[in-house]
Amino acid sequence: MNFLYMILKLKKILPNIKFISFLFIFIFAITTLINANLNKNLTSKTDSLKTDTVKKDTLSKKTVNLRSPQEMFLSCARCHSIGKGKLVGPDLFDVISRHDSAWFANFIRSSDSMVKAGDTSALRLYLAYEKLPMPNHDFSPEEIQVLLNYIELEGKKLKANPNFLDNTVNYAPRSNSWLFILSILLILLPLFDLIFSNFLKYKIINVLLILVGLAICGKVLGEEAKYLGRSLGYEPDQPIKFSHRVHAGENKINCIYCHTGAIDSRYASIPATTLCLNCHNVIRYGTNTGEGEIDKIHQAVDSGKSIQWVKVYNLPDHVFFSHAQHVKDGKINCDKCHGDVANMGRIQQVTDLSMGWCMNCHKETEVQFDNKYYTNYKLQEDLKSGKISKVTVEDIGGNNCQKCHY
Ligand code: HEC
Ligand code: HEC
Ligand code: HEC
Ligand code: HEC
Ligand code: HEC
Ligand code: HEC
Repeated sequence: MNFLYMILKLKKILPNIKFISFLFIFIFAITTLINANLNKNLTSKTDSLKTDTVKKDTLSKKTVNLRSPQEMFLSCARCHSIGKGKLVGPDLFDVISRHDSAWFANFIRSSDSMVKAGDTSALRLYLAYEKLPMPNHDFSPEEIQVLLNYIELEGKKLKANPNFLDNTVNYAPRSNSWLFILSILLILLPLFDLIFSNFLKYKIINVLLILVGLAICGKVLGEEAKYLGRSLGYEPDQPIKFSHRVHAGENKINCIYCHTGAIDSRYASIPATTLCLNCHNVIRYGTNTGEGEIDKIHQAVDSGKSIQWVKVYNLPDHVFFSHAQHVKDGKINCDKCHGDVANMGRIQQVTDLSMGWCMNCHKETEVQFDNKYYTNYKLQEDLKSGKISKVTVEDIGGNNCQKCHY
């Protein structure tokens, strides 16, 4: 009797078990799929970062007949660190910027004679370090130069930031994949229950769940479609780790110095490799990338090949856009359309470049009506008589189809 009863009971919960295990398998499959995808993205990102590490210095190769700087520094390391704090003597990180090379040569060879001679900074150091004299070192001037280069280079390596191209702000639309999966689950599970497991007593609940799922799914797909073919947040890796933050930001190089076309022609233009050499014939060492990335400029020039930069901002061929019209005539700053470039590592597309984007700005923005092109416009009189307070780009026909389309 008991046995029969148990079988009856099992039969009752069996469909539930089927349903629950199906649910588990389904969720498991989906999460592994997403994880695999996420990992793929992550590894491709870290791969590109690994190559960033600072290249080894070539100083030791160039100076075979001198003592190697590492060997010479051993005698200093008892009392000095580079970037690891004060030991017996001061931390030598950034010490190069504190004195000139003649001072270093004299001080390292004989600090006590400098103290005796009353050199102010030698005296100040001597007093600050409890009158503990720094021992004399019998190094040749060449050796001291090599040693100082080594100290400078080690300091630079400490400053290197392999993630220097990363941007703090990301304009890419947030991914909706979780919401999408939820909506699919909301559709499939009640459907499955309806056909096979019959777990839910009232079929109307299944139908309602499926409808909610369809609604969410439709919303998500609609959002995605809005960005389809658009590249808001597009931030490709470039063949050379060129950083606008380093150039236009930290070193305050003017945009027009490199993008010479931006003021008076249609295209802003990407600078030719030879322009980089104006500076990089001299600057051979990058704080973050060592010599590797700057070497690529020289390799490109030597081999006569141009660098294949990946274009970020792209309008379709049927749209006409001119930088001169906007930058020179319209007096619009680069950042209105390209964002805070001076703080970007990698260039990132900060607008969706849609037709609505162009037209909205034309609706809001006034034209520079004192411009000589507009002297014969009828609107000038309306403006003078106070009939209208401003003239937008739309008012002068800037939103007529043929202005932007061939
Ligand atoms: C026995 C410990 C000792 C050794 C070894 C030593 N130093 Fe020093 N060093 C000092 C002290 C102490 C001072 C602080 C100045 C003073 O007391 O005269 C100093 C100061 C300096 C300064 C000036 C730092 C500043 O902040 O302006 C430099 C540069 C320097 N040492 C380089 C070297 C180099 C290069 C070597 C190796 C060739 C070396 N020292 C070896 C103890 C030492
Ligand atoms: C007007 C001068 C100038 C021009 C032109 C110039 N650069 Fe630079 N570049 C610099 C300076 C300054 C640095 C910083 C060097 C440092 O880290 O000490 C630098 C650093 C770099 C670095 C290393 C960044 C780092 O932190 O490791 C790379 C790579 C680079 N530039 C590429 C280029 C390329 C490619 C061009 C041409 C499109 C170019 N530069 C044009 C001045 C210039
Ligand atoms: C030292 C030269 C240099 C300076 C200065 C410079 N750029 Fe650039 N710019 C480049 C190079 C090289 C590229 C191509 C590589 C890249 O996209 O990072 C580029 C790319 C761009 C792009 C993307 C073009 C595209 O669609 O592919 C924009 C936008 C841009 N720069 C804007 C600016 C602005 C705005 C400034 C001033 C704040 C500026 N740049 C200063 C050299 C420079
Ligand atoms: C009114 C918006 C707007 C302004 C202002 C603007 N740009 Fe652009 N820029 C664009 C658009 C749109 C593109 C894409 C053009 C295309 O694909 O034909 C572009 C493309 C570029 C490119 C890629 C190369 C090229 O010429 O197509 C560079 C570099 C660039 N801009 C730099 C600048 C700089 C530097 C300034 C400031 C002096 C600036 N832009 C101002 C909208 C603007
Ligand atoms: C930040 C605001 C802004 C954005 C974004 C913008 N424009 Fe403009 N545009 C202007 C202004 C301001 C003028 C008028 C310039 C002047 O004073 O003559 C103008 C003028 C024009 C003109 C000439 C109109 C005429 O009547 O002669 C064309 C064509 C044009 N824009 C195309 C575009 C296209 C294509 C885009 C999008 C890819 C775009 N603009 C995005 C501000 C903008
Ligand atoms: C201020 C400039 C501007 C004006 C004015 C303008 N367009 Fe556009 N149009 C664009 C830009 C930019 C694109 C590309 C947008 C994209 O790729 O999403 C575009 C794309 C299009 C497309 C292709 C849509 C697609 O999805 O590929 C059509 C069709 C079009 N425009 C028709 C028109 C018509 C009709 C008018 C007149 C009512 C007009 N445009 C006025 C800038 C303009």
